[in-house]
Amino acid sequence: MEKGLKEAAKESAPTAVSQARRLLEWYDGNRRILPWREDPSPYHVWLSEIMLQQTRVEAVRDYYTRFLAALPTIESLAKADEDVYLKLWEGLGYYSRVRNLHKAACQIMAEHGGHMPGTYDQLLKLAGIGPYTASAIASICFDARIPAVDGNLLRVFARMTGYDGSIKADAARTAARDYYLTIFPEHRCGDMNQALMDLGACVCLPKGAPLCQECPWAELCRAHREGREQDFPVVPARKARTVEDKTVFLIYYEQKLALRKRPEHGLLAGLYEFPNAPGTLDREEAIRFARDLGFGAVRLQKLPASKHIFSHREWHMTGWQILADEWEPFAEGKPRDHELFLASARQLEEVYSIPSAFAGYQKEVRKDYL
Ligand code: ADE
Repeated sequence: MEKGLKEAAKESAPTAVSQARRLLEWYDGNRRILPWREDPSPYHVWLSEIMLQQTRVEAVRDYYTRFLAALPTIESLAKADEDVYLKLWEGLGYYSRVRNLHKAACQIMAEHGGHMPGTYDQLLKLAGIGPYTASAIASICFDARIPAVDGNLLRVFARMTGYDGSIKADAARTAARDYYLTIFPEHRCGDMNQALMDLGACVCLPKGAPLCQECPWAELCRAHREGREQDFPVVPARKARTVEDKTVFLIYYEQKLALRKRPEHGLLAGLYEFPNAPGTLDREEAIRFARDLGFGAVRLQKLPASKHIFSHREWHMTGWQILADEWEPFAEGKPRDHELFLASARQLEEVYSIPSAFAGYQKEVRKDYL
């Protein structure tokens, strides 16, 4: 009797093939229409994957379209000036990603005749392409049978199997890849990965209750069977971020605004910023700061506080608007600050990319003063 039941259960359990088929059928009826899916050339998929590491799908659409309108081919990206691609990335964050995109485009021109290479191992050798991105490009563009394990695939895996190790550990990635390899089909591997991404993003939700009634795999899911959807994935508590106080300055002089180029290494390397100083500067200290940069005859106005959260740190900012009637950029014949310069309204709009950490002050810029 016992054996009979087991046999019956085995027969009714879906095989890997039918499990994959169920998901692909669901995907065919429910997939999100996204621009890079409509024309999935390797360049398009690569660009979208790098952008999607930053931000939500909806936010990426416009960046993606704008980027490709300006730099439609790998060759045009390889030939572009740094300020051009940095500007196209403005607001997306992690500018090292677009720098690597450019570097890899140069590699592709030099080593692959301008064509994106087609294997996982070759892709991994390109700047900025790690295991996830190589898997995504290889599967979506070249039908390689490789799971692209991102946060969505990890969460679906953890719930499907009741995986109770930390989802942040490397072991979870390996276990997820091994699990998916047992169910991946021979073909449509890119669709399989994208179906899992859509399932994770739209059904097996990260926050709040997942929509199990819409899930093609609900009856195969251990967490669902046990009513423990919210117990998975297991996410360890993150370390507290360090908080840094800062004072940001919008300094106007002769219809221009003071900007500064950040150092080439470290946080927000090589990008442009409004002059700023550590700590919370009061009116007297702010006047002294401006004077040290050579600005005189100043009028000050306090700006609202603003906060920006990075992965490991937070900036808590206050700000001052300063209208200056004098500027002496040289003290004793030497520049006071090599990196400080004045930018016009057009340059602010079109040339210099200011990271979103300063968005709270970018929106305070008075266009009518420029
Ligand atoms: N997230 C990362 N890559 C994606 C893709 N190709 N489709 C949807 N969401 C994604």
